Amino acid sequence: MQTVEEITELRQLRAQLAGPLGFVPTMGYLHAGHISLVELAKRDCASVVVSIFVNPTQFGPSEDLAAYPRDIPADLKLLAAAGVDLVWLPTPEIMYPPGFQTWVEVEQVSQPLEGAQRAGHFRGVSTVVAKLFNAVTPDKAYFGQKDAQQVAVIQQMVRDLNFPLEIVVGATQREAEGLAMSSRNSYLSAEQRQAATVLYRALNAAREAYVAGERSGNRLRAIMRETIAAEPLAEAQYVSCADRASLEELDEITDGALLSMAVYVGKTRLIDNLILTSEK
Ligand code: PAJ
Repeated sequence: MQTVEEITELRQLRAQLAGPLGFVPTMGYLHAGHISLVELAKRDCASVVVSIFVNPTQFGPSEDLAAYPRDIPADLKLLAAAGVDLVWLPTPEIMYPPGFQTWVEVEQVSQPLEGAQRAGHFRGVSTVVAKLFNAVTPDKAYFGQKDAQQVAVIQQMVRDLNFPLEIVVGATQREAEGLAMSSRNSYLSAEQRQAATVLYRALNAAREAYVAGERSGNRLRAIMRETIAAEPLAEAQYVSCADRASLEELDEITDGALLSMAVYVGKTRLIDNLILTSEK
């Protein structure tokens, strides 16, 4: 496995890799969720590139950029074991040199849910992902369903800007009790970690009601809110039952709708989601 920092060197090494090329962008502190995307890429592609870059422009002024967990040596071990060909580790100066002033904004899809709570977040995500795509030029790029709105924003950007690549979405990887794996779970105490299972419990309570015939968006949102309210260590920031592509809230729910939520457990903000199907 090779590692590289500079974009010109990345381009030279990328040119030597056999196609099709799969790409998994990450912010590091890797866990089994990230590695599941690498495994999907390995299955589909002859070569796999992973980037590790804690992107400052997607963090708000009051967010956890400085505290974001980092462990590059552990990440490189996991990626080597997973059979990755090339890891790109750019610096903030490489990605955002002095005078940087060009931004990618996906307008409507970036507005609700995470976008409404985290001003400028998706402008940072779409800009950095466009830059990563331009440098790596993959055939396929892999994103986790864990970040459902990120998937919708990137898919819209790829369509609108004609990136010649395919987006592949990997299933959310969970701990045994249902907590979605996340680098931010490392902030939780043992007690908070137990409380954090409420996100998946709330999603499942709404899913069960849907499977039993409930079709009211208001009712499904209320079920999620009530489940979270019953957990003393958790506080819901939003719950949503929306169209999975436009992210507009729905009144009448059908298969394919996206249930999602952001919940505070202590100071840690957690998100989770699932896509409804009427199959039991
Ligand atoms: P990061 O949070 O490191 O996540 C990298 C990729 O791993 C994303 O596509 C994310 O959805 C996926 N992922 C995270 N947890 C997962 C889980 N439990 N199961 C499956 N996939 C999971 O998302 C980002 O970084 C950044 O916004 C990035 C796209 C790299 C742009 O900076």
